[in-house]
Amino acid sequence: MRIETLAVHAGHEIDPGTGAVTLPIVLSTTFEREADGSYPRGYSYSRSANPNRHALEQCLAALEGGAAAAAFSSGSAATMALFQALAPGGHVIAPTDVYHGTARLLREVFAPWGLETSFVDMTDPGQVERAVRAQTRLIWVETPSNPLLKITDIARVAGIAHAAGALCACDNTWATPVLQRPFELGADLIVHATTKYLGGHGDVLGGGLIAKADDAFFQRIRKIQTTGGAVPSPFECWLVLRGIPTLPYRMRGHAENALKVATFLGKNPAVEAVHYPGLKEHPGYEVASRQMREPGGMLSFQVKGGQDRAFDVAAKVKVFTRATSLGGAESLIEHRASVEGPETRTPDNLLRLSVGLEHADDLIDDLVQALA
Ligand SMILES: Cc1ncc(COP(=O)(O)O)c(C=O)c1O
Repeated sequence: MRIETLAVHAGHEIDPGTGAVTLPIVLSTTFEREADGSYPRGYSYSRSANPNRHALEQCLAALEGGAAAAAFSSGSAATMALFQALAPGGHVIAPTDVYHGTARLLREVFAPWGLETSFVDMTDPGQVERAVRAQTRLIWVETPSNPLLKITDIARVAGIAHAAGALCACDNTWATPVLQRPFELGADLIVHATTKYLGGHGDVLGGGLIAKADDAFFQRIRKIQTTGGAVPSPFECWLVLRGIPTLPYRMRGHAENALKVATFLGKNPAVEAVHYPGLKEHPGYEVASRQMREPGGMLSFQVKGGQDRAFDVAAKVKVFTRATSLGGAESLIEHRASVEGPETRTPDNLLRLSVGLEHADDLIDDLVQALA
């Protein structure tokens, strides 16, 4: 089935008990067992499994074309479970511009635990190859990257990982399964902050980890999920699942608006540079055209005149909201270096946009007056 149909139906089954078309939220933390101690309906205690979480996991696995999925209480919790499933003494390769929360996890939580990371420019496969060690267990891809929208060739990097006997994981949060298919390009694992486009309405925090194979490594992730307990509540699962049916249509709207906004910014004399892989002059344009259905709803731009001028533009917008995060219906603008803190490598005149679903002309008019 096509993704539009999967988004509407996967995990959305008629409730057998009531006939409800939308799965009710099952708040019970515990479930009745049979007299012999078994639980044939599959549920015993909500940390281990819950009907709403099960439905969401079925849906996530179907959307990405994976064999199994585990839902978490945030994108970072999903990321963390994947690193925890590796063993101390292992080595990870990650992009220098990986999501700053992921970099922080690797540097501040997992380095002391014994997992070493090499950060490389992943747009250059040569750098990835040179970083491989005998202990390399995982290559982490995030494309498009944050906030410069750099594009990594997933198939090339997955090939390098497999030649080294390592796994390739792809953070597909920004592209979503609608625009990018990491399993078809060779990735073994996919991570999502469902907080973003999958939830889609800025009202739920969540994460998902999808595995191409339901193998021993995924079973270890499942163990970390169910024994560690960083699981989303039934209501949070219900909200993410409620967002997903419109995902394919929302992604089309986000991408259409983003291309119009990026094209406008590229012609504005107050703008120094625009970073959007849908523009021909973007260094990742060719790879993005090959591996993405559309270039997505995120972009960033640098304003002439430095940080003060960037703050000035962000202060003047009226339709965009000054806030971090992405993937909701409303357009957001943020001075990314301020959000990332003192260790940031982001240019201080850069503003990141999560282009929402308003009319593109209203977004452009707003930027015209803010840049004037
Ligand atoms: C690409 C990417 N991955 C992971 C995360 C972490 O997600 P969460 O905030 O749900 O922990 C984010 C958050 O912004 C993100 O942008």
